[in-house]
This record gives sequence, C-alpha cells and structure tokens, in this order.
Amino acid sequence: MLKNSNYRIELITSEEAWSIRQPVLREGKSIEACIFDGDDFETTFHVGLFMADRLIAVATFMKNSNKLFLENNQFQLRGMAVLKVFQGNGYGHHILKFGESILAKQGVKMIWCNARKIAVPFYQKNNYTIKGDSFIIPEIGIHYVMGKTLGI
Ligand SMILES: CC(C)(COP(=O)(O)OP(=O)(O)OC[C@H]1O[C@@H](n2cnc3c(N)ncnc32)[C@H](O)[C@@H]1OP(=O)(O)O)[C@@H](O)C(=O)NCCC(=O)NCCS
Repeated sequence: MLKNSNYRIELITSEEAWSIRQPVLREGKSIEACIFDGDDFETTFHVGLFMADRLIAVATFMKNSNKLFLENNQFQLRGMAVLKVFQGNGYGHHILKFGESILAKQGVKMIWCNARKIAVPFYQKNNYTIKGDSFIIPEIGIHYVMGKTLGI
C-alpha cells in the first residue's frame, strides 16, 4: 500500500475495478460489459486509488504477450480509468507507477497496452511509446499499441 495525506493506493478486487471501469470506459453499458477475460487469473492484479475511502481510479495488470515486442516476460495494462471529475490531477500517473513497481519487482521486462487515441499523450508522459500502426476496436474507436521497458 502507498499512503499519504490525500490518498492511498492498494490492490483491489476485480469487482471494485468494474465499478470504476463502468462510468469511465463503458458509460451507459451493463456491468457485464466491464468484465475482461483474465480479470480473475491468478497472475492478474488490480490497483485502486482511494480518496477518503472513495475509490476514484483503477488499473488492471494482466500477464499477456504482444508479438510486437520481443521480451519474454510481458504484462498488459488494461482498464486504466480515473473518474471524470478527478482526471488531470496526476492520479492516473500514481496508479500506473504503483503497478509498474510491482511488475518490476516480479522481473517483468515489458508492459504494453492498447491505448485509446485520446489517451496517447497520457501514456507518452509516462514514457510509453507507440508501436506499429493504429487500429480500430469496434464501438470504442482508434487505438495504438504502446509499450514501455521496465527495470532499466
Ligand atoms: C487517461 C487517464 C487514465 C489519465 O489519468 P489522469 O489522472 O487523468 O492523468 P494524469 O493527471 O496522471 O496525467 C495528465 C495527462 O493525462 C492526459 N489527460 C488528462 N485528462 C485526460 C482525459 N480526460 N482523457 C485523456 N487524457 C487525459 C493529458 O495528457 C494530461 O497531461 P496535461 O495535463 O499536460 O494535458 C484518465 O484521464 C481517464 O480515465 N480518461 C478516460 C478513460 C481513458 O481514456 N482511459 C484510457 C484508456 S486506454
């Protein structure tokens, strides 16, 4: 757990992650639409940021390799979401760093994600780079694969 006077960051359940994914990433859709294959895998973990005991930001880290990267030990970042009124205050950055530090300790070498076009600047600020061409995820829009090498 990471705690300071304003917030705390800790591991959360998949159900808690769904509760923030829904309004941020699947607005107007059912909770079932917020469930990802692999949410309950043993290697998957979910990270949440709480302000005064209210969960406001989540991210999920899943063991999954992308052929665009050569590293053996890869994780995928999924469901990166901060409640709208709290966006742009560094909480996304903090939660990402927390998850990345867990992965680095596990010896994971590469983290990657399918980044929505609108979120590309956020990932770039966190030292992720675009790999390959853009692609479309139906009902969501244009995405880029972005990755970052860990532990160097
Ligand atoms: C993208 C997101 C996770 C970033 O978290 P955050 O806490 O808002 O971001 P931070 O404060 O750590 O970083 C700030 C940077 O994020 C980006 N950002 C801020 N608000 C954003 C928003 N509403 N949507 C997308 N990117 C945003 C900007 O590049 C910003 O930099 P700037 O202030 O210099 O312009 C969050 O804004 C969000 O949940 N957006 C909607 C859902 C989404 O797009 N998720 C990513 C799916 S791949």
